[in-house]
Amino acid sequence: MAKKILVLNGPNINLLGKREPSIYGRETLATIESACKKRGQTLGLAVECRQSNLEGELVGWIHEAAYGGPKGKRAFDAIVLNAGAYTHTSIAIMDALKAAALPVIEVHLSNVHKREKFRHRSYITPVAEGVISGFGGLGYELAIEAAAKRLKPAARKR
Ligand code: DQA
Repeated sequence: MAKKILVLNGPNINLLGKREPSIYGRETLATIESACKKRGQTLGLAVECRQSNLEGELVGWIHEAAYGGPKGKRAFDAIVLNAGAYTHTSIAIMDALKAAALPVIEVHLSNVHKREKFRHRSYITPVAEGVISGFGGLGYELAIEAAAKRLKPAARKR
C-alpha cells in the first residue's frame, strides 16, 4: 500500500496569493496543494492536505495522523508542516508532534532567518527531521521528496 503523507498548514496560509505577496508570493494554497499531490503521485505516495487557523485543530490532526488509523495505529506515515506563526509560539503543537513520533518535515515559504528575530525561534525544529525555508511553494514539494526518501526502506547492498 502507498505510504501516506499529511500536509498541514497553519494560520493565515489560506490567504496565500493575497497575503503580503512581496513575502509569500502570488501562488495560492490550492495551487501548492495540487502540486504536492502530483509530486506525491510521481513518488508513489498518497498526499492529503489540510489547513486550519486553529491551534487545537492542528493538534487534533497530528493525533489523528499518529493514532487515527485501524486499531489505533497510525493513519499517516509522515507529516509535512507549515505551522505559520504557531511555529514560534506553540508548545502544544511541539508536544503533539513528540507524542505522534512520526517523521515531520518543517516548511516555511519565506526564509524565516532573514526576517524578524521572533521568527528565528521554532518550536517545531527540535522535533523535525529537517527544515525547508525560503523556497516558496516549491518547499512543500521538496519536503515531499524528503519524506519519500525517509520512508523508503534503504536499498539493499549486495
Ligand atoms: C511562515 C513564516 C511564519 O513566521 C509566519 O508567521 C507565517 C508563514 C512561512 O511560511 O514563511 O505565517 O511559516
